[in-house]
Amino acid sequence: MTEEHPLLSVEDLVVEYPTAHGPFRAVDQVGFQLRRGGSLAVVGESGCGKSTLARALVRLLKPLSGRIVLDGTDIAALPERRLRPLRRRVQMVFQDPYGSLDPHLTAQQIVAEPLRLAGVSDRTERARRAAELIDQVGLPSSALHRHPADFSGGQRQRIGIARALASRPDLLVCDEATSALDVSVQAQVLSLLRDLQAETGIAYLVIAHHLGVVREISTEVVVMRAGRTVETGRTADVLAAPADPYTRALRRAALDPTAMRGLKPRHVLEGSSS
Ligand SMILES: Nc1ncnc2c1ncn2[C@@H]1O[C@H](COP(=O)(O)OP(=O)(O)OP(=O)(O)O)[C@@H](O)[C@H]1O
Ligand SMILES: [Mg+2]
Repeated sequence: MTEEHPLLSVEDLVVEYPTAHGPFRAVDQVGFQLRRGGSLAVVGESGCGKSTLARALVRLLKPLSGRIVLDGTDIAALPERRLRPLRRRVQMVFQDPYGSLDPHLTAQQIVAEPLRLAGVSDRTERARRAAELIDQVGLPSSALHRHPADFSGGQRQRIGIARALASRPDLLVCDEATSALDVSVQAQVLSLLRDLQAETGIAYLVIAHHLGVVREISTEVVVMRAGRTVETGRTADVLAAPADPYTRALRRAALDPTAMRGLKPRHVLEGSSS
């Protein structure tokens, strides 16, 4: 069988933070693959290393070891100079959309900025493309000249998505702001991501706190605990018959209506027996 090589292949990835007590290993030997135009979710309790993994994938952090093969090129250890042309191709939507948007800029300026970096030198053209993207993520044209503080959490996340899409990436790493958004807003953002994928063929790596979200957005899932992968596979299989007790506990949490109020799995797990 001839298989096209995956868009992203992560192998034995290790990420450590320096601390006063020595290095802390936040991601430990994680590996998975994501095909072009595919979608993969990473789930696990608070503090298990999801955001660290995401930041390493977009090379905001440099891993200690392992490989991050993007379309055939290992970017895990590439120096910034050689990374620059690849940066456009992988974009990230941050967990805290407020903290990651410059409060002094308007939505239009925020979305136009990556276009400038991508070499769109004409200011009018940048403004036009930014307006188009803001429309594409379902915000009204009145949003263009407002600042991050004037938006709701869900709207801010849409601005983050519009900014991330500006450079037409092959892969969007989306660190879901689950706890900050209520369920209906979350559902709208997910449906937006699905529509965009159908239109553009972009691939997603979505970080989700909740298995319900995973079912909505991804065909593959990686379950993490304490920096390690405990289970990986097709979402339908993992949800139907989770092999790991931890995944089973997460699944119970997903079925529990209290989990829908933005509680993170950790809190739900503490309250669950067996
Ligand atoms: N800059 C840092 N220095 C030291 N330790 C860190 C740093 N950032 C994160 N950590 C630790 O690394 C671990 C993983 O953190 P990370 O933010 O990746 O978790 P997460 O899975 O994204 O959690 P959440 O679901 O709450 O967003 C945690 O134990 C955290 O305390
Ligand atoms: Mg996080």
